[in-house]
Amino acid sequence: MDLELKGRIAVVTGASAGIGRGIARVLAKEGAQTVIVSRRIALLEALAGEIERDGEARPLVVADDLQNRDAPARIARQVFARFDRVDILVNNAGGSRPLPVCAADEAWDEAFAINFTAVRKVTQAFLPAMQRNRWGRIINITGSLEPRAVNGANAAKAGVHIWAKGLSCDVAKDGITVNCLMPGRIHSEQIDQRMHPSAENQRAFAEANIPAGYFGDPEDIAHAVAFLCSPKARYITGQRMYIDGGMHRSI
Ligand SMILES: NC(=O)c1ccc[n+]([C@@H]2O[C@H](COP(=O)([O-])OP(=O)(O)OC[C@H]3O[C@@H](n4cnc5c(N)ncnc54)[C@H](OP(=O)(O)O)[C@@H]3O)[C@@H](O)[C@H]2O)c1
Repeated sequence: MDLELKGRIAVVTGASAGIGRGIARVLAKEGAQTVIVSRRIALLEALAGEIERDGEARPLVVADDLQNRDAPARIARQVFARFDRVDILVNNAGGSRPLPVCAADEAWDEAFAINFTAVRKVTQAFLPAMQRNRWGRIINITGSLEPRAVNGANAAKAGVHIWAKGLSCDVAKDGITVNCLMPGRIHSEQIDQRMHPSAENQRAFAEANIPAGYFGDPEDIAHAVAFLCSPKARYITGQRMYIDGGMHRSI
């Protein structure tokens, strides 16, 4: 199936590692001109080189810290200095923030700054251009709605779900869709280095919790992102979808 992504301008946040890196690679393979954003410029440059060596359009590299409230406007300025529009935005940067039940305000503010506020502000930076163009795709990589302990990211990402649903109604007539994808356990830096740092731990977790029996790869998320970005997915908006090998039980 031709997803008709050739030449589309696609911004992917959190592209230096894990799921975001996989999304950037798949969108580039589908012919999109990617813009890859995160803090670690060396990793972004390495990814840009890989994509170019594979014969695809070299991504525009934008290094910035999305915890900084000025970053979204700075990123947009760099993108619009090079391109006259943005067609696709994948808000992927973020991560788990397990917190004590009475965590300090600073810890909550930090969790929300990256997992909610950055998503909202980056979207607001690119939305007017999508509206002018009367076409756009916004995909938010969120997470579980079944917490087993207090986690600042869960709360922030639940906020993203509600905000995204409202936004999807506001911009549907502009030809813009807004959807959220909820990963289960996908190999990435945070999963393989921090949350489940050994193969034995991953095997035991998968056996007990994941009907498919194994952790997913970034491409398992990326292929769904690519489809949702396609003109062929024009009638899918305001949705949340788990991609988790059957791990979550809510339907
Ligand atoms: N992997 C999973 O199973 C899983 C499960 C549930 C939800 N998720 C969600 O999926 C998304 C990707 O997760 P992942 O597992 O792939 O994480 P990861 O391997 O830790 O990668 C996180 C990415 O976000 C970037 N990032 C983090 N903080 C940033 C900041 N302040 N400014 C700019 N970029 C920042 C990192 O780049 P730099 O360090 O270079 O800035 C990196 O590229 C996250 O939103 C996460 O919550 C993942």
